[in-house]
Amino acid sequence: MTREMEAARGWVRDCTSLCVLTGAGVSAESGVPTFRGPEGLWRQRDPMSLATPEAFAEDPKEVWEWYQWRRQRIRGCAPNPGHAALAAVEAAKPDFLLVTQNVDGLHLAAGSRRVAEIHGSIWRVRCAGCGAEREERSDFAELPPRCAACGGLLRPGVVWFGEMLPREPSDAAMEMLTRCEVLIVAGTSAVVAPASGYAAVAKRRGARVIEVNPDETPVSGICDATFRGRSGEILPVLLG
Ligand code: OAD
Repeated sequence: MTREMEAARGWVRDCTSLCVLTGAGVSAESGVPTFRGPEGLWRQRDPMSLATPEAFAEDPKEVWEWYQWRRQRIRGCAPNPGHAALAAVEAAKPDFLLVTQNVDGLHLAAGSRRVAEIHGSIWRVRCAGCGAEREERSDFAELPPRCAACGGLLRPGVVWFGEMLPREPSDAAMEMLTRCEVLIVAGTSAVVAPASGYAAVAKRRGARVIEVNPDETPVSGICDATFRGRSGEILPVLLG
């Protein structure tokens, strides 16, 4: 074990208030495609044509076909040892929050409970007409699906570019960033706001910031420790 890892393990072990921010990379080893990078979803498709309210208004069927395809793909994926390590460390910390940009639900599937899903969940649907929201895990026979109550269009319960984050999880994330002693940033390219700014918020008030990512990111420079590798391999060591 490197000295850097020994030090970082000590920060995690000794803190009472731990925050973790995750992105798509944490689910990569589970088989969920990331957005950026050589095999990323945004290499093949333009995010503006699939992940904006304008794209949905223009062609809800096309947007839904893409989400249904992702839902099918994610349904076949299971949590990996990185998710499991995060679920396990939660039990040991009186003050803990896992802030995730992931919509795949794999943190919850791994047993994490104090989770702020700031980009929503691909397993939720919301009526664009009456606003009714519910969990729906099965496929829709017809796309785009419609609301049984009002006949309005159902949309995926995720945050699209240009939309506000859901208030409850984003407030919980900000509150945690203003008090955590340690922030771990794992598997995110740290280019999408507001999560891209979270490490700086924690760092400014003196929290230790630890990054887990095979690649350098815009936040690497402010981190107190950086571990270049897969989260499924590094998180169990860091948190173990
Ligand atoms: P990205 O796809 O932008 O970044 C994934 C990051 O994970 C990259 O920095 C990779 O280097 C890293 N990575 C890849 N494999 C990894 C592994 N095994 N272990 C650890 N890290 C690994 O995903 P996000 O940062 O989550 O939003 O993207 C943020 C937001 O942009 C998403 O929530 C989504 C996307 O557009 C919307 O759709 C609104």
